[in-house]
Amino acid sequence: KAIVVNFGSQYAHLISRRLRELGLYAELVDPMAVSNVLNGDVKLIVLSGGPSSVYEENAPSIDVSILNGDRPILGICYGHQLVASMLGGSVEKGEGEFGPTKVYVDVREPIFKGWNETEVAWMSHGDYVAKPPPGFRVIAKSERGYIAGMKSDDGRIYTFQFHLEVTHTKKGTTLLRNVVDELVGKHDIWRPEDLIDSTVEDIRRKAVDGRVLVAVSGGIDSTVTAALIHKAVGDRAMLVLIDHGLFREGEVKKVVKLYEEVGLHVKVIDASQSFLGKLRGVSDCEERRKIIGETFAEVFTNLMRENPDVKWVAQGTLYPDVIESGAVKGSNVIKSHHNVGGLPKWFNVGLIEPLRNLYKDEVRRLAASLGLPNEMVWRQPFPGPGLAVRIMGVFNDEKLAIVRRATAILEEELSKAEVRGYWQALAAVGDDEWVGVKGDRRAVGHIVIIKVVSSDDGMTADWMPLDADLLSRISRRITGEMPNVSAVTYFVSSKPPATIEPC
Ligand code: XMP
Repeated sequence: KAIVVNFGSQYAHLISRRLRELGLYAELVDPMAVSNVLNGDVKLIVLSGGPSSVYEENAPSIDVSILNGDRPILGICYGHQLVASMLGGSVEKGEGEFGPTKVYVDVREPIFKGWNETEVAWMSHGDYVAKPPPGFRVIAKSERGYIAGMKSDDGRIYTFQFHLEVTHTKKGTTLLRNVVDELVGKHDIWRPEDLIDSTVEDIRRKAVDGRVLVAVSGGIDSTVTAALIHKAVGDRAMLVLIDHGLFREGEVKKVVKLYEEVGLHVKVIDASQSFLGKLRGVSDCEERRKIIGETFAEVFTNLMRENPDVKWVAQGTLYPDVIESGAVKGSNVIKSHHNVGGLPKWFNVGLIEPLRNLYKDEVRRLAASLGLPNEMVWRQPFPGPGLAVRIMGVFNDEKLAIVRRATAILEEELSKAEVRGYWQALAAVGDDEWVGVKGDRRAVGHIVIIKVVSSDDGMTADWMPLDADLLSRISRRITGEMPNVSAVTYFVSSKPPATIEPC
């Protein structure tokens, strides 16, 4: 396996995901814990990026003996700079390079097999390596002339300033594959779907009696969790869907029907009045996220009281959530993503988290192997707090109705136009208004923002260009069907800098 030393980069998970995709199992490790996990299984150490500067006081680091040891090392961004500074080179503050950047590479190096002399790579750094350490050779430079890649003379350490793990580095995967071939060589191929049988066995061994409660949302994580639990304990699985009133148009019914079709019976708990009652009038989105989390916990508490035979609660916690709960110092909380959880400690139930070592796309592979229909496997991600995070400014019923209808129109038109391959399509609304004219009258209305993005993990995203006629149809329908909307705009920022959901 590989370990990815996490210096607090938003991209650290991406590195480990990419390695797994190449069949090399990878895990994130805190810098302080590296020595504890270095056993014979570790064939590659990756040093991730991070927000710190290597020359800052208390900058995260690892024991220099690890760099001087005999294990292969790949350094990325901060990791690249750390290797330079720890082994006798120098790192300085530079002009900064952000986003797609031209790099010139030494194609004689086998590590660049499949690359041209000039390629586009994704950069995100202020500091740069001013001088490589002794015994290192520069193998790539950026358009600004900064060192974009270097290699130790013994070929054991490779470091890159750019992020080869993001898809915006066009041939990043090719390079990562070359790195694995060079530094690791032959290894066992890791495949997530091979885990199904052992996971089901584990659940059976754990939940020997009592019922197992799973709160599902229609999303892939809770759905696969439910399917695994059902496979393991059959009718002892108790599936509920808590309706917070923040789902899309017709979504609850649709989802429940899909579950029925695959033999999973789901009980709907309508708690929408309780959620909406607390959300009305709340302007701060983080505050809304908190309220929703707490209300989920409340509904859950009642459910447990009413069903004392429930001894287990299963959750679709994914690997990134597990790692982030022990968050690395230095990494920034961007928003408090919420999933059903927050179970009061006094609950006398056990927790089952069958997906805790997996990433989302791996869960999709599991879902497909379990025979779940494509509609479930490839459903677009939808945030736990639902439409509430697509309302900017004060939360009220009017804005909720606007985003709900606008989302439905958007999804319908995209489907009619057979637009595929997007990660999410959403509509958002805030308090800004635009003067309109409807039926020859002045009519001040809301501005609806529509957004379609491509991404493969939600960590980075690009806005998707849509056909002008399609955009025009969507806009006409939204303003036509809703008297209180006078304008539609299309969202053209990527992530970074803008997160996918508005708040
Ligand atoms: P952002 O907005 O941070 O979102 O760029 C990245 C991805 O995560 C989804 N998202 C959530 N998913 N609970 C979730 O399960 C949440 O609270 C939440 N907030 C955002 C978002 O839709 C996007 O796919």
